[in-house]
Amino acid sequence: MAKKLTGEELRKIEQHLIEFLKTDIGPILKNASGTKFDSYDEKVNDVDLVTVVDKKVETLIRKFAEENYPEIKFIGEESLSKDERFDLEDPTFIVDPIDGTTNFIHGFPFSCTSIGVAQGGKPVIGCVYNPHLNQLFHASLGNGAYLNDEPINIEKRTLSLKKSIIGFEGGSEREDGKGTNFTKKFDTYRKLLSDRGAFIHGFRSLGSAAMNICYVSIGYMDAYWEGGCWAWDVCAGWCILNEAGGKIVGGNPGQWNIPINNRSYLAVRGGLVDDDEQEKFIQDFWGFVEGALKY
Ligand code: IPD
Repeated sequence: MAKKLTGEELRKIEQHLIEFLKTDIGPILKNASGTKFDSYDEKVNDVDLVTVVDKKVETLIRKFAEENYPEIKFIGEESLSKDERFDLEDPTFIVDPIDGTTNFIHGFPFSCTSIGVAQGGKPVIGCVYNPHLNQLFHASLGNGAYLNDEPINIEKRTLSLKKSIIGFEGGSEREDGKGTNFTKKFDTYRKLLSDRGAFIHGFRSLGSAAMNICYVSIGYMDAYWEGGCWAWDVCAGWCILNEAGGKIVGGNPGQWNIPINNRSYLAVRGGLVDDDEQEKFIQDFWGFVEGALKY
């Protein structure tokens, strides 16, 4: 078992990552996004995309991590090996070089670099940088959450399912038909939006799991529900959300305690008026999930 990082060590690594993201990584995403970039590869299917920039950025982050923190393990979306373990007990960087690759290709300004660190199976550092909007969200366990240099401290507002805006994503798994995850997701969306169902205020789809979770952290959205993501999509945002008073549970009913790589998630904001609002929101939401998502 590797040595556990202390709160002070986590804070220092967080600060180091902020400088690295601003100087070395952000400009690459900013300059290459959209019409200046016209070739990409398809991974699992026609809508699971990767560019040379994803690979280049991951290589740079891995080099940074190995040179500065050789004792911390590394998992990256684009260099994952088949036998990679996700128990995440030892300190481990969990990296998505570009989260929102489809946005990145299309020039929609919601792509970001997401660098998390997990230890003891929990997210303990999170840095998410969207250079197009100049938004750098960051946090480490016990040290608070920030957007750029400002602490995230959202105003109190009653959290209720009916009066919520929720982030949903189609994701890249699009297998249609009875009993598929795709069908269950869209049946759930319909029930949440419908005047015969929860009749929530609305939904938003940002195309990046990390950005969705960060926007829940600052209270732009009340919640975000998704199935199909991986640990690198959520680890950094999860730490930021926890430090901002929010919570992540599983996407399926009853999943109160989940591993980082659970694959389905429900993220809920802080800024509560009453302490029990989060739990009630989660129970209410789960009541509309149309069949368990399976990955
Ligand atoms: C994807 C985005 C998208 C989510 C997918 C992710 P990528 O990550 O976060 O919003 O719906 O599940 O895979 O491929 O852009 O790194």
